[in-house]
Amino acid sequence: MKPFEKKVWLSSPTMHGDELKYITEAYDTNWMSTVGANINEVERIAAEKAEVKYAVALSCCTAALHLCVRFAGEKLYGKSAISHGVLEGKRVFCSDMTFNATLNPVVYEGGIPIFIDTEEESWNMDPVALEKAFELYPDVKLVVCAELYGFPGRLDLIKKICEKHKALLIEDAAEAMGATLNGKQCGSFGDFGAVSYNGNKIITGSSGGCMLTNDIEVANKIRKWSTQARENAAWYQHEEIGYNYRMSNVVAGVVRGQYPYLEEHIKQKKAVYERYKEGLKGLPVSMNPIVDNTKPNYWLSAMIIDKDYMCKQVRDDSKALYIHEDGKTCPTEILKALSSINAEGRPIWKPMHMQPMYRMHECIGRDGSMRCRTNAYIAGSVVDVGADIFERGLCLVVLKNYTSKEYTGIGEKELESCINMQESRGFGILGWLS
Ligand SMILES: Cc1ncc(COP(=O)(O)O)c(C=O)c1O
Repeated sequence: MKPFEKKVWLSSPTMHGDELKYITEAYDTNWMSTVGANINEVERIAAEKAEVKYAVALSCCTAALHLCVRFAGEKLYGKSAISHGVLEGKRVFCSDMTFNATLNPVVYEGGIPIFIDTEEESWNMDPVALEKAFELYPDVKLVVCAELYGFPGRLDLIKKICEKHKALLIEDAAEAMGATLNGKQCGSFGDFGAVSYNGNKIITGSSGGCMLTNDIEVANKIRKWSTQARENAAWYQHEEIGYNYRMSNVVAGVVRGQYPYLEEHIKQKKAVYERYKEGLKGLPVSMNPIVDNTKPNYWLSAMIIDKDYMCKQVRDDSKALYIHEDGKTCPTEILKALSSINAEGRPIWKPMHMQPMYRMHECIGRDGSMRCRTNAYIAGSVVDVGADIFERGLCLVVLKNYTSKEYTGIGEKELESCINMQESRGFGILGWLS
Protein backbone atom coordinates (compact mmCIF):
# COMPACT_ATOMS: atom_id res chain seq x y z
CA MET A 1 0.00 0.00 0.00
CA LYS A 2 1.29 3.47 -0.92
CA PRO A 3 1.87 5.80 2.06
CA PHE A 4 -0.35 8.90 2.23
CA GLU A 5 1.44 11.82 0.64
CA LYS A 6 0.43 14.21 3.40
CA LYS A 7 0.63 12.98 6.97
CA VAL A 8 -2.81 11.98 8.28
CA TRP A 9 -3.00 13.29 11.84
CA LEU A 10 -4.79 11.54 14.68
CA SER A 11 -7.39 14.28 15.18
CA SER A 12 -6.94 17.54 13.32
CA PRO A 13 -9.13 20.68 13.31
CA THR A 14 -11.89 21.25 10.74
CA MET A 15 -12.54 24.90 9.91
CA HIS A 16 -15.65 26.19 8.19
CA GLY A 17 -15.14 29.89 7.42
CA ASP A 18 -17.26 31.57 10.11
CA GLU A 19 -14.24 31.47 12.39
CA LEU A 20 -12.43 33.92 10.12
CA LYS A 21 -15.46 36.23 10.07
CA TYR A 22 -15.45 36.52 13.89
CA ILE A 23 -11.67 36.89 14.11
CA THR A 24 -11.88 39.68 11.51
CA GLU A 25 -14.67 41.32 13.50
CA ALA A 26 -12.41 41.37 16.56
CA TYR A 27 -9.65 42.92 14.45
CA ASP A 28 -11.87 45.49 12.74
CA THR A 29 -13.45 46.63 16.00
CA ASN A 30 -10.02 46.60 17.71
CA TRP A 31 -11.12 44.23 20.49
CA MET A 32 -7.77 42.43 20.25
CA SER A 33 -7.94 41.71 23.92
CA THR A 34 -9.38 39.50 26.64
CA VAL A 35 -12.62 41.48 26.42
CA GLY A 36 -15.10 41.54 23.55
CA ALA A 37 -18.24 40.30 21.84
CA ASN A 38 -16.76 36.93 20.86
CA ILE A 39 -15.98 36.07 24.50
CA ASN A 40 -19.49 37.04 25.60
CA GLU A 41 -21.00 34.91 22.85
CA VAL A 42 -18.78 31.90 23.64
CA GLU A 43 -19.89 32.05 27.27
CA ARG A 44 -23.53 32.24 26.24
CA ILE A 45 -23.33 29.38 23.72
CA ALA A 46 -21.11 27.16 25.91
CA ALA A 47 -23.57 27.39 28.82
CA GLU A 48 -26.52 26.74 26.53
CA LYS A 49 -24.92 23.70 24.85
CA ALA A 50 -23.78 22.19 28.14
CA GLU A 51 -27.18 22.94 29.71
CA VAL A 52 -25.72 24.82 32.66
CA LYS A 53 -26.45 28.38 33.77
CA TYR A 54 -22.97 29.88 33.44
CA ALA A 55 -19.75 29.40 31.46
CA VAL A 56 -16.51 31.31 32.00
CA ALA A 57 -14.23 31.53 28.95
CA LEU A 58 -10.59 30.80 29.79
CA SER A 59 -7.23 30.30 28.07
CA CYS A 60 -7.50 26.50 28.23
CA CYS A 61 -9.28 23.66 29.99
CA THR A 62 -6.31 23.16 32.33
CA ALA A 63 -6.82 26.74 33.55
CA ALA A 64 -10.54 25.99 34.03
CA LEU A 65 -9.69 22.88 36.04
CA HIS A 66 -7.16 24.84 38.11
CA LEU A 67 -9.70 27.48 39.07
CA CYS A 68 -12.29 24.79 39.86
CA VAL A 69 -9.76 23.07 42.13
CA ARG A 70 -8.90 26.38 43.77
CA PHE A 71 -12.57 27.21 44.38
CA ALA A 72 -13.41 23.71 45.65
CA GLY A 73 -10.33 23.74 47.91
CA GLU A 74 -11.28 27.07 49.48
CA LYS A 75 -14.86 25.94 49.98
CA LEU A 76 -13.74 22.72 51.67
CA TYR A 77 -10.69 23.82 53.64
CA GLY A 78 -10.72 27.64 53.75
CA LYS A 79 -8.30 30.13 52.22
CA SER A 80 -4.64 29.15 52.13
CA ALA A 81 -1.81 31.29 53.46
CA ILE A 82 0.10 33.34 50.88
CA SER A 83 2.45 31.17 48.79
CA HIS A 84 0.69 27.97 49.84
CA GLY A 85 -1.68 25.75 47.89
CA VAL A 86 -5.26 25.42 48.99
CA LEU A 87 -5.07 21.60 49.05
CA GLU A 88 -1.79 21.23 50.92
CA GLY A 89 -1.57 17.76 52.40
CA LYS A 90 -5.13 16.89 51.31
CA ARG A 91 -5.90 13.73 49.39
CA VAL A 92 -8.01 13.98 46.22
CA PHE A 93 -9.50 11.05 44.28
CA CYS A 94 -8.61 11.37 40.58
CA SER A 95 -9.20 9.49 37.32
CA ASP A 96 -6.24 7.25 36.60
CA MET A 97 -6.43 6.60 32.86
CA THR A 98 -6.47 10.15 31.51
CA PHE A 99 -4.28 13.01 30.31
CA ASN A 100 -2.19 14.45 33.15
CA ALA A 101 -3.95 17.84 32.77
CA THR A 102 -6.95 16.31 34.59
CA LEU A 103 -5.05 16.23 37.86
CA ASN A 104 -2.10 18.61 37.42
CA PRO A 105 -4.12 21.42 39.07
CA VAL A 106 -4.56 19.25 42.18
CA VAL A 107 -0.77 19.11 42.43
CA TYR A 108 -0.38 22.85 41.66
CA GLU A 109 -2.44 23.40 44.82
CA GLY A 110 -0.38 21.02 46.96
CA GLY A 111 -2.93 18.19 46.93
CA ILE A 112 -2.08 14.48 46.91
CA PRO A 113 -3.78 12.62 44.05
CA ILE A 114 -5.09 9.14 44.79
CA PHE A 115 -5.82 7.32 41.57
CA ILE A 116 -9.02 5.38 41.02
CA ASP A 117 -8.74 2.42 38.67
CA THR A 118 -10.68 2.15 35.42
CA GLU A 119 -13.88 0.20 34.86
CA GLU A 120 -13.45 -2.51 32.23
CA GLU A 121 -16.96 -2.00 30.80
CA SER A 122 -16.66 1.77 30.30
CA TRP A 123 -12.91 2.62 30.24
CA ASN A 124 -13.77 5.44 32.69
CA MET A 125 -13.42 5.86 36.47
CA ASP A 126 -14.78 2.74 38.18
CA PRO A 127 -17.62 3.66 40.61
CA VAL A 128 -17.01 0.44 42.57
CA ALA A 129 -13.35 1.37 43.05
CA LEU A 130 -14.39 4.91 44.05
CA GLU A 131 -16.72 3.55 46.73
CA LYS A 132 -13.85 1.38 47.97
CA ALA A 133 -11.61 4.45 48.06
CA PHE A 134 -14.07 6.30 50.33
CA GLU A 135 -14.06 3.27 52.63
CA LEU A 136 -10.27 3.48 52.89
CA TYR A 137 -9.97 7.28 53.00
CA PRO A 138 -13.24 8.62 54.47
CA ASP A 139 -11.75 12.09 54.96
CA VAL A 140 -11.45 12.77 51.24
CA LYS A 141 -13.79 15.55 50.10
CA LEU A 142 -12.85 16.15 46.46
CA VAL A 143 -13.07 13.96 43.32
CA VAL A 144 -11.76 14.88 39.85
CA CYS A 145 -13.20 12.70 37.12
CA ALA A 146 -12.56 12.78 33.35
CA GLU A 147 -14.53 11.21 30.50
CA LEU A 148 -12.29 9.21 28.18
CA TYR A 149 -12.19 9.96 24.43
CA GLY A 150 -15.75 11.32 24.45
CA PHE A 151 -17.33 8.04 25.61
CA PRO A 152 -19.03 8.73 28.96
CA GLY A 153 -18.78 6.31 31.85
CA ARG A 154 -21.02 6.14 34.94
CA LEU A 155 -20.80 9.76 36.01
CA ASP A 156 -24.35 9.52 37.38
CA LEU A 157 -23.20 6.86 39.85
CA ILE A 158 -20.01 8.75 40.61
CA LYS A 159 -22.00 11.89 41.44
CA LYS A 160 -24.27 9.86 43.75
CA ILE A 161 -21.25 8.37 45.55
CA CYS A 162 -19.77 11.88 45.96
CA GLU A 163 -23.06 13.14 47.40
CA LYS A 164 -23.25 10.21 49.80
CA HIS A 165 -19.77 11.05 51.11
CA LYS A 166 -20.33 14.83 51.00
CA ALA A 167 -17.52 15.27 48.50
CA LEU A 168 -17.38 17.83 45.67
CA LEU A 169 -17.05 16.60 42.09
CA ILE A 170 -15.01 18.32 39.37
CA GLU A 171 -15.90 16.96 35.94
CA ASP A 172 -13.19 17.15 33.30
CA ALA A 173 -15.26 16.98 30.11
CA ALA A 174 -12.35 18.19 27.93
CA GLU A 175 -12.82 15.27 25.53
CA ALA A 176 -16.58 14.84 25.92
CA MET A 177 -18.26 18.07 24.81
CA GLY A 178 -21.68 17.25 23.33
CA ALA A 179 -21.72 13.68 24.69
CA THR A 180 -24.61 12.74 27.00
CA LEU A 181 -25.48 10.30 29.76
CA ASN A 182 -29.18 9.71 30.51
CA GLY A 183 -29.88 12.61 28.14
CA LYS A 184 -27.79 15.01 30.26
CA GLN A 185 -24.79 16.83 28.78
CA CYS A 186 -21.26 15.91 29.85
CA GLY A 187 -19.79 18.86 31.71
CA SER A 188 -23.03 19.34 33.66
CA PHE A 189 -22.69 16.46 36.13
CA GLY A 190 -20.05 17.87 38.45
CA ASP A 191 -20.33 20.66 41.00
CA PHE A 192 -17.84 22.23 38.59
CA GLY A 193 -17.25 21.30 34.94
CA ALA A 194 -14.62 22.07 32.32
CA VAL A 195 -14.44 21.70 28.53
CA SER A 196 -11.54 22.20 26.10
CA TYR A 197 -11.15 23.91 22.73
CA ASN A 198 -7.61 22.56 22.26
CA GLY A 199 -6.61 22.07 18.60
CA ASN A 200 -7.32 18.35 18.65
CA LYS A 201 -10.77 18.48 20.29
CA ILE A 202 -14.23 17.95 18.75
CA ILE A 203 -14.44 21.72 18.13
CA THR A 204 -11.50 24.05 18.61
CA GLY A 205 -10.41 27.62 19.13
CA SER A 206 -6.77 26.58 18.49
CA SER A 207 -6.72 26.67 22.29
CA GLY A 208 -9.13 27.71 25.03
CA GLY A 209 -11.56 26.22 27.51
CA CYS A 210 -14.63 27.00 29.56
CA MET A 211 -15.51 26.46 33.20
CA LEU A 212 -19.16 25.41 33.63
CA THR A 213 -21.36 25.93 36.69
CA ASN A 214 -24.93 26.57 37.83
CA ASP A 215 -23.75 28.86 40.61
CA ILE A 216 -23.37 32.57 39.85
CA GLU A 217 -21.02 33.03 42.83
CA VAL A 218 -18.63 30.43 41.35
CA ALA A 219 -18.78 32.01 37.89
CA ASN A 220 -18.13 35.51 39.21
CA LYS A 221 -15.25 34.43 41.43
CA ILE A 222 -13.57 32.40 38.72
CA ARG A 223 -13.94 35.23 36.21
CA LYS A 224 -12.32 37.55 38.75
CA TRP A 225 -9.44 35.19 39.49
CA SER A 226 -8.83 34.64 35.76
CA THR A 227 -8.13 38.35 35.25
CA GLN A 228 -5.56 38.80 38.06
CA ALA A 229 -8.14 39.18 40.84
CA ARG A 230 -8.67 42.96 40.91
CA GLU A 231 -10.84 44.47 43.61
CA ASN A 232 -13.36 47.20 42.92
CA ALA A 233 -11.12 50.28 43.06
CA ALA A 234 -9.83 52.84 40.57
CA TRP A 235 -6.29 51.48 40.97
CA TYR A 236 -4.97 47.93 40.99
CA GLN A 237 -6.10 46.68 44.38
CA HIS A 238 -5.52 43.03 45.33
CA GLU A 239 -6.76 41.00 48.29
CA GLU A 240 -6.18 37.53 46.83
CA ILE A 241 -4.01 35.72 44.31
CA GLY A 242 -4.97 36.07 40.65
CA TYR A 243 -4.15 34.43 37.33
CA ASN A 244 -3.86 35.50 33.70
CA TYR A 245 -6.24 32.80 32.48
CA ARG A 246 -8.88 34.71 30.47
CA MET A 247 -9.70 33.66 26.89
CA SER A 248 -8.59 36.02 24.13
CA ASN A 249 -11.31 37.62 21.99
CA VAL A 250 -9.48 36.35 18.88
CA VAL A 251 -9.47 32.73 20.10
CA ALA A 252 -13.11 33.22 21.12
CA GLY A 253 -13.85 34.19 17.50
CA VAL A 254 -12.67 30.76 16.37
CA VAL A 255 -14.66 28.97 19.09
CA ARG A 256 -17.77 31.03 18.24
CA GLY A 257 -17.44 30.07 14.58
CA GLN A 258 -17.04 26.38 15.48
CA TYR A 259 -19.96 25.88 17.88
CA PRO A 260 -22.66 25.68 15.17
CA TYR A 261 -20.76 22.68 13.75
CA LEU A 262 -20.51 20.66 16.97
CA GLU A 263 -23.36 18.31 16.02
CA GLU A 264 -21.99 17.83 12.52
CA HIS A 265 -18.53 16.98 13.87
CA ILE A 266 -20.10 14.45 16.23
CA LYS A 267 -21.96 12.89 13.30
CA GLN A 268 -18.77 12.58 11.29
CA LYS A 269 -16.78 11.14 14.19
CA LYS A 270 -19.58 8.61 14.72
CA ALA A 271 -19.34 7.62 11.06
CA VAL A 272 -15.59 7.04 11.50
CA TYR A 273 -16.18 4.90 14.60
CA GLU A 274 -18.85 2.83 12.86
CA ARG A 275 -16.76 2.40 9.75
CA TYR A 276 -13.89 1.07 11.85
CA LYS A 277 -16.26 -1.20 13.76
CA GLU A 278 -17.64 -2.61 10.54
CA GLY A 279 -14.23 -2.93 8.90
CA LEU A 280 -12.66 -4.70 11.86
CA LYS A 281 -15.63 -7.07 12.33
CA GLY A 282 -14.55 -10.67 12.69
CA LEU A 283 -11.09 -9.78 13.97
CA PRO A 284 -10.21 -10.45 17.62
CA VAL A 285 -10.47 -6.77 18.58
CA SER A 286 -13.16 -4.50 20.01
CA MET A 287 -13.76 -0.77 19.85
CA ASN A 288 -14.13 1.62 22.81
CA PRO A 289 -17.17 0.49 24.80
CA ILE A 290 -20.46 2.43 24.70
CA VAL A 291 -22.25 2.37 28.05
CA ASP A 292 -26.07 2.01 28.16
CA ASN A 293 -27.97 5.31 28.10
CA THR A 294 -24.97 7.25 26.83
CA LYS A 295 -24.45 9.07 23.54
CA PRO A 296 -20.72 9.52 22.98
CA ASN A 297 -19.33 12.37 20.89
CA TYR A 298 -17.01 9.72 19.34
CA TRP A 299 -14.05 12.11 19.63
CA LEU A 300 -11.44 9.36 19.33
CA SER A 301 -12.02 5.85 18.03
CA ALA A 302 -9.88 3.33 19.87
CA MET A 303 -9.60 -0.42 19.85
CA ILE A 304 -8.36 -3.17 22.12
CA ILE A 305 -6.85 -6.49 21.06
CA ASP A 306 -8.26 -9.67 22.61
CA LYS A 307 -5.90 -11.11 25.24
CA ASP A 308 -5.30 -14.37 23.40
CA TYR A 309 -4.21 -12.51 20.27
CA MET A 310 -1.55 -10.33 21.87
CA CYS A 311 2.05 -11.04 20.85
CA LYS A 312 4.79 -10.27 23.37
CA GLN A 313 5.35 -6.54 23.88
CA VAL A 314 7.46 -4.67 26.44
CA ARG A 315 7.69 -0.94 27.06
CA ASP A 316 10.18 1.02 29.14
CA ASP A 317 9.86 4.75 29.86
CA SER A 318 10.36 5.74 26.23
CA LYS A 319 10.73 2.73 23.94
CA ALA A 320 8.73 -0.35 23.04
CA LEU A 321 9.72 -3.77 21.70
CA TYR A 322 7.61 -6.64 20.46
CA ILE A 323 8.14 -10.09 19.01
CA HIS A 324 6.15 -10.62 15.83
CA GLU A 325 4.04 -13.76 15.86
CA ASP A 326 1.80 -14.94 13.05
CA GLY A 327 -1.83 -14.78 14.10
CA LYS A 328 -1.11 -12.25 16.85
CA THR A 329 -0.23 -8.59 17.17
CA CYS A 330 0.13 -5.69 19.65
CA PRO A 331 -0.41 -1.90 19.70
CA THR A 332 3.29 -1.25 19.00
CA GLU A 333 3.16 -3.34 15.81
CA ILE A 334 -0.06 -1.68 14.58
CA LEU A 335 1.22 1.83 15.38
CA LYS A 336 4.42 1.08 13.47
CA ALA A 337 2.36 -0.07 10.48
CA LEU A 338 0.18 3.05 10.59
CA SER A 339 3.27 5.22 10.81
CA SER A 340 4.80 3.45 7.78
CA ILE A 341 1.87 4.69 5.66
CA ASN A 342 2.22 8.22 7.08
CA ALA A 343 -0.84 7.97 9.35
CA GLU A 344 -0.84 8.74 13.07
CA GLY A 345 -2.12 6.43 15.80
CA ARG A 346 -1.46 6.67 19.55
CA PRO A 347 -1.28 4.36 22.53
CA ILE A 348 -4.11 4.70 25.05
CA TRP A 349 -3.40 7.30 27.81
CA LYS A 350 -0.75 5.73 30.04
CA PRO A 351 -2.43 5.44 33.46
CA MET A 352 -1.20 7.98 36.02
CA HIS A 353 -0.26 5.32 38.57
CA MET A 354 2.26 3.94 36.05
CA GLN A 355 3.89 7.33 35.41
CA PRO A 356 7.41 7.75 36.84
CA MET A 357 6.35 10.73 38.98
CA TYR A 358 3.52 8.75 40.61
CA ARG A 359 5.04 5.29 40.58
CA MET A 360 4.44 4.58 44.27
CA HIS A 361 1.41 6.82 44.67
CA GLU A 362 -1.74 5.25 46.07
CA CYS A 363 -4.06 3.71 43.50
CA ILE A 364 -7.36 2.06 44.37
CA GLY A 365 -9.10 -0.71 42.49
CA ARG A 366 -12.19 -2.80 43.25
CA ASP A 367 -10.21 -4.86 45.76
CA GLY A 368 -8.76 -1.87 47.57
CA SER A 369 -5.24 -0.47 47.36
CA MET A 370 -3.29 -1.76 44.36
CA ARG A 371 0.05 -1.10 46.10
CA CYS A 372 1.97 -3.54 48.32
CA ARG A 373 -0.48 -6.34 47.55
CA THR A 374 1.93 -9.16 46.71
CA ASN A 375 4.09 -11.16 49.07
CA ALA A 376 7.27 -13.07 48.23
CA TYR A 377 5.98 -16.04 50.23
CA ILE A 378 2.30 -16.09 49.26
CA ALA A 379 1.08 -16.34 45.67
CA GLY A 380 -1.13 -13.45 44.60
CA SER A 381 -1.63 -10.79 41.99
CA VAL A 382 -3.24 -7.40 41.57
CA VAL A 383 -6.09 -6.64 39.16
CA ASP A 384 -5.05 -3.51 37.26
CA VAL A 385 -7.65 -2.67 34.60
CA GLY A 386 -5.94 0.56 33.47
CA ALA A 387 -2.59 -1.14 32.89
CA ASP A 388 -4.31 -3.87 30.88
CA ILE A 389 -6.18 -1.43 28.59
CA PHE A 390 -2.93 0.53 28.12
CA GLU A 391 -1.11 -2.70 27.20
CA ARG A 392 -3.65 -3.89 24.63
CA GLY A 393 -5.35 -0.72 23.36
CA LEU A 394 -4.63 2.04 20.85
CA CYS A 395 -6.25 5.14 19.36
CA LEU A 396 -7.03 5.00 15.66
CA VAL A 397 -6.43 7.76 13.17
CA VAL A 398 -9.51 9.83 12.22
CA LEU A 399 -9.64 9.86 8.45
CA LYS A 400 -11.73 12.49 6.74
CA ASN A 401 -11.94 14.72 3.70
CA TYR A 402 -12.21 18.39 4.26
CA THR A 403 -11.49 21.71 2.65
CA SER A 404 -11.16 24.96 4.54
CA LYS A 405 -14.82 25.72 3.72
CA GLU A 406 -16.71 22.51 4.19
CA TYR A 407 -16.54 19.28 6.07
CA THR A 408 -17.35 16.49 3.68
CA GLY A 409 -17.04 13.57 6.03
CA ILE A 410 -14.61 10.70 6.27
CA GLY A 411 -12.52 9.80 3.30
CA GLU A 412 -14.19 6.52 2.48
CA LYS A 413 -11.42 5.52 0.09
CA GLU A 414 -8.67 6.23 2.59
CA LEU A 415 -10.48 4.53 5.43
CA GLU A 416 -11.15 1.51 3.23
CA SER A 417 -7.49 1.21 2.31
CA CYS A 418 -6.45 1.72 5.92
CA ILE A 419 -8.67 -1.13 7.03
CA ASN A 420 -7.56 -3.27 4.11
CA MET A 421 -4.02 -2.50 5.11
CA GLN A 422 -4.73 -3.64 8.64
CA GLU A 423 -6.25 -6.83 7.32
CA SER A 424 -3.60 -7.49 4.72
CA ARG A 425 -1.52 -10.56 5.37
CA GLY A 426 1.26 -9.40 3.03
CA PHE A 427 1.75 -6.19 4.95
CA GLY A 428 2.05 -8.24 8.10
CA ILE A 429 0.33 -5.77 10.44
CA LEU A 430 -2.42 -7.78 11.92
CA GLY A 431 -0.60 -11.02 11.33
CA TRP A 432 -3.46 -12.91 12.93
CA LEU A 433 -4.97 -13.47 9.49
CA SER A 434 -2.05 -15.66 8.47
C1 LIG B 1 -8.92 14.75 29.60
C2 LIG B 1 -8.26 16.07 29.34
N1 LIG B 1 -8.23 16.97 30.33
C3 LIG B 1 -7.67 18.17 30.15
C4 LIG B 1 -7.12 18.53 28.95
C5 LIG B 1 -6.46 19.85 28.85
O1 LIG B 1 -7.11 20.72 27.98
P1 LIG B 1 -6.39 22.06 27.50
O2 LIG B 1 -5.38 21.65 26.48
O3 LIG B 1 -7.50 22.88 26.90
O4 LIG B 1 -5.77 22.69 28.67
C6 LIG B 1 -7.13 17.61 27.88
C7 LIG B 1 -6.57 17.87 26.55
O5 LIG B 1 -5.89 18.70 26.14
C8 LIG B 1 -7.72 16.34 28.08
O6 LIG B 1 -7.73 15.44 27.10
